[in-house]
Amino acid sequence: MDNLIPAPVRAGGDDGRGFLLDGATTLTAGPGTGGTERWLRTTLGAAFGLPLAPAPTDAAGSANTVELRVDASLEPEGYRLEVEPVRGVRITGGSAAGVFWGAQTLRQLLGPEAFRRAPVSPGAERRVPLAEIEDGPRFGWRGLMLDVARHFTPKDGVLRMLDLLAAHKLNVFHFHLTDDQGWRVEIKRHPRLTEVGAWRARTKYGHRASELWDGTPHGGFYTQDDIREIVAYAAERHIRVVPEIDIPGHSQAAISAYPELGNTDVIDTSALSVWDTWGINPNVLAPTDNTLRFFEGVFEELLELFPAETSPFIHVGGDECLKDQWRQSPTAQARMSELGLTDEDELQSWFIRHFDRWLADHGRRLIGWDEILEGGLAEGAAVSSWRGYAGGIAAAEAGHDVVMCPEQQVYLDHRQDGGPEEPMPIGYVRTLEDVYRFEPVPPGLSEEAARHIMGIQANVWTEVMQNRDRVDYQVFPRLAAFAEVAWSPLPAPGERDFAGFERRMNTHYARLDALGVGYRPPAGPQPWQRRPGVLGRPIEGPPPTV
Ligand code: ACM
Repeated sequence: MDNLIPAPVRAGGDDGRGFLLDGATTLTAGPGTGGTERWLRTTLGAAFGLPLAPAPTDAAGSANTVELRVDASLEPEGYRLEVEPVRGVRITGGSAAGVFWGAQTLRQLLGPEAFRRAPVSPGAERRVPLAEIEDGPRFGWRGLMLDVARHFTPKDGVLRMLDLLAAHKLNVFHFHLTDDQGWRVEIKRHPRLTEVGAWRARTKYGHRASELWDGTPHGGFYTQDDIREIVAYAAERHIRVVPEIDIPGHSQAAISAYPELGNTDVIDTSALSVWDTWGINPNVLAPTDNTLRFFEGVFEELLELFPAETSPFIHVGGDECLKDQWRQSPTAQARMSELGLTDEDELQSWFIRHFDRWLADHGRRLIGWDEILEGGLAEGAAVSSWRGYAGGIAAAEAGHDVVMCPEQQVYLDHRQDGGPEEPMPIGYVRTLEDVYRFEPVPPGLSEEAARHIMGIQANVWTEVMQNRDRVDYQVFPRLAAFAEVAWSPLPAPGERDFAGFERRMNTHYARLDALGVGYRPPAGPQPWQRRPGVLGRPIEGPPPTV
């Protein structure tokens, strides 16, 4: 019980006896808890080879059962978990989501073997310590962004990542579906987006200054049914999905498929292919009616795939849109004078506002990277604050909702140690302890503005993560520290108990082992996790503070 991650709000009660789960233990699922009932049976049932049969309907409140129920007087994502020696386990959640987070805690209480998919010690005692836990999250938005554009994560890898998020009580999956290097979602009315835009002939190996290329063609995309499966799988785990279509920058893959989307009066866009290297790309969308109609069509299909209940927010990117082509383009300049705009930042703002209104008309909310503040923030827009805290502070003070994901703190592509063995080292050194000490609400923020901080997100950009093993290495174990920042109450400022967290991590590493996660070991990378000779781009010195 004293090794839970993230740490619960309150826990007590272990007198050493425990409740034993066995072949006769039943599941008593109250109204609205069917999803967690299914999840417990498939995960714990498989790990321990136990049937966890439904309790007979007349047996509620009887012995040897795991009882699930909703009590709406608790916070929606909060739960209470009580263990008694004869009766068994009772998980009471404020909603179906709270019940599910309570079930995740139960799994952790049962030890690392609970994270395997088949029993490794059949017949052994499955003891739940006699816990009494009251718990609930600090933030409502506890997210991870995965970039599947730079390197594609096949569908099974996405489902696995959703399981890993759920195991850490994270509840938002920001799905970065498009970029210069690939378009990853099937759009029926624009088939070339994936026929052409999902593939590249070769890929820069390492940072963009590296001399190395991987000549294996790379790509892939999710069919619309793949997306529906991912969304349903996430929903069953109480994870909201935020799909991102990155516009008007980061769009070379789309332009290579449909050259008329680009600034055809500046360059020959028909000569472009899906980008095969990294950096900020000058080939951005043309601010034309044709572009607006094209992406309205994309979003129409997207909204059908990502329903409003589980995807209230749609991310439109908006980051790193270089304005050089707009400065040179007579078409873009004509649009600016027609609209009475004084600079290209205002043109980007006009573009984002268009989709803010369009999404609002379709019952959704727009979220974008903090560049969407430049030239004026659209009315209902929320902001992912990535270039530090400043954008988030400005947006929150102006009454906009904010997700804090400053690159200096929670970009998991950044290296996790300063030593020479880190594979393809990028950015600042952000150790497990650094992530653990991340404080999302900047001091001095007014209470009113602080209420607009919806939560936090760790971002995983995959330029130098070619496959699942590289992603695992960068994401774990730091995601465990991040999850605790997102979920657990803030101790008094400066009092985060990292030594206590590290002690709990001893057990958590065993859980990650059981799950088959290729994390970075505390002592440094295993030989097969190193990439000697592949250039990264480390930044020396500590990152700037708030
Ligand atoms: C970003 O890292 N360009 C959002």
